[in-house]
Amino acid sequence: MGIVVLTMKASVIEMFLVLLVTGIHSNKEMTKKIKRPKFTVPQINCDVKAGKIINPEFIVKCPAGCQDPKYHVYGTGIYASYSSVCGAAVHSGVLDNSGGKILVQKVAGQSGYKGSFSNGVQSLSLPRWRESFIVSESKPQKGVTYPSTLTYSSSKSPDAKAGETTKAYQRPSAPGTTAQPVTLMQILAMPAAEVTHATLPKPFPFATSATSSPRPQPVGHGSWEMGEIDLWKPGSVLLDAGFIPKEELSTQSSEPVSQGDPNCKVDLSFLIDGSSGIGKRRFQIQKQFLADIAQALDIGPAGPLMGVVQYGDNPATQFNLKTHMNSRDLKTAIEKITQRGGLSNVGRAISFVTKTFFSKANGNRGGAPNVAVVMVDGWPTDKVEEASRLARESGINIFFITVEAAAENEKQYVMEPNFANKAVCRTNGFYSFNVQSWLGLSKTMQPLVKRVCDTDRLACSKTCLNSADIGFVIDGSSSVGTGNFRTVLQFVANISKEFEISDTDTRIGAVQYTYEQRLEFGFDKYSTKPDILNAIKRVGYWSGGTSTGAAIHYALEQLFKKSKPNKRKLMILITDGRSYDDVRIPAMAAHQKGVITYAIGVAWAAQDELEVIATHPARDHSFFVDEFDNLYKSVPRIIQNICTEFNAQPRN
Ligand SMILES: *[C@@H]1O[C@H](CO)[C@@H](O)[C@H](O)[C@H]1NC(C)=O
Repeated sequence: MGIVVLTMKASVIEMFLVLLVTGIHSNKEMTKKIKRPKFTVPQINCDVKAGKIINPEFIVKCPAGCQDPKYHVYGTGIYASYSSVCGAAVHSGVLDNSGGKILVQKVAGQSGYKGSFSNGVQSLSLPRWRESFIVSESKPQKGVTYPSTLTYSSSKSPDAKAGETTKAYQRPSAPGTTAQPVTLMQILAMPAAEVTHATLPKPFPFATSATSSPRPQPVGHGSWEMGEIDLWKPGSVLLDAGFIPKEELSTQSSEPVSQGDPNCKVDLSFLIDGSSGIGKRRFQIQKQFLADIAQALDIGPAGPLMGVVQYGDNPATQFNLKTHMNSRDLKTAIEKITQRGGLSNVGRAISFVTKTFFSKANGNRGGAPNVAVVMVDGWPTDKVEEASRLARESGINIFFITVEAAAENEKQYVMEPNFANKAVCRTNGFYSFNVQSWLGLSKTMQPLVKRVCDTDRLACSKTCLNSADIGFVIDGSSSVGTGNFRTVLQFVANISKEFEISDTDTRIGAVQYTYEQRLEFGFDKYSTKPDILNAIKRVGYWSGGTSTGAAIHYALEQLFKKSKPNKRKLMILITDGRSYDDVRIPAMAAHQKGVITYAIGVAWAAQDELEVIATHPARDHSFFVDEFDNLYKSVPRIIQNICTEFNAQPRN
């Protein structure tokens, strides 16, 4: 638990007062002195959600095995009461997977919950919930009587039963308060299975007159009959019998302009198909789909930003990330897009997006994941594989929506079979949508918005440059000499410069060694590139012996033990001579712990020893230069090898 202790007094069951008491130390000392009240600790199962229990504060016993991902947890530190109590306890580190007693305190609902991976549990994000809770070790607080039996809410309560989840969307029913409308994002954040019936109201899509499409129309494409179209009339398919009134979905001009949904901070590019083959009617449906997305996403400078690229023979930006920074303007702009015509050069469009669209000048914020959603009618007329690989390697999360894919008799026209799998960020299904008919496209809107906003799962945001903890292990022995030591520090700085540095991107740490070892700075010491470069410059030359084995061991203990689980661990060791101690066992320990080790040897360094230190295959991880002045030559190769190895990871 954090520094803030939340103490709570319940007066009425539904309403309670939250007092914020800072200063955990004084509070802890007080609780030590009081005698623990005698009571039986009630037991719950892993699947019990906090919202099901009415007691505002209680101690419970959790069984083993609550780490299982099927017990959903929403939030980090403060959890939405829609979460599994015991799952949240494991996530927050209070409990391990073997179960035990925990203290649960209900606190006020939050405007947003951020998911994270912690202690083996992936928690999810949720925009807003009516009630939260925090979990701590089961130390009874002074003056609180803990219940021996828990009071469960009746099945009518909003989040009582998993089977009645639609009720959980309803507004909180606290007496005397004006009900808050539930945002669309809140619904979109719910597990997909629970929103399958929900479809947005949609204007009649065939306002423009139909022109025939030049593409051959195989069986299955001829479904443009009026009978089916009737289903699409406005108002006929409202969200679950209208529990979101239509008015709340439309942005009113009198409203203040939204800053955007902070729980969905992504830089989004839609690549829309403007080829002649799609035809006017389908193009119109595509635009409608885009407008619906723009409305469902709460666009704004603190939330998602969205631009559109239309492709045909060549791609062109309709508007970039900063052209329209709210949902209403974006929708209006989408409605005005006119079709370009031409071929369906998707590969070319993806290259364009990588090189041009996601540039800083076009509004790319850097701190937000880049997402490209590619809409394809049928199949592309060029190849997508190479362009997509480059896009992924620069951190773009590619989604594909393939509509009316090639039928059996059309497959001969497809230049690159399996094109979607070659393009998407991961081939696990998360990034691909296959839509049978343009008429069914609207069904993908909600799952798409939900996935695009699930920033923790956007795997391609990670690149070789922004996702590592890099620990330099620097030989400060007497043989190096002051001048050469400066060169080594320059080398360390030159490598560090290549990475994107922040507390959430790549982090840098450094250890210097002789006979002894010292931590120059750990991963969490500096979080900007200038600070890191300054710190490297300030490292003082130590001078002494060369115990490389002990230094590796020290780096594992003092640096890499504090590396985050989602980071790639890279050790870059620089030495100018043979070690006085044995390097084999510490090196093996590093490899076993998943620390990818690069060994850089200068002058008198022993090549056989470098190869033992280096991760397998040694030829990619060990470098030798004959003099310090040539050290600079290995910088580009080291960076390239780090990136090649990163990009060679399996993509599924
Ligand atoms: C570091 O980079 C600077 C500037 O590019 C260069 O002049 C220098 O030779 C490099 N030194 C090393 C050791 O990489």
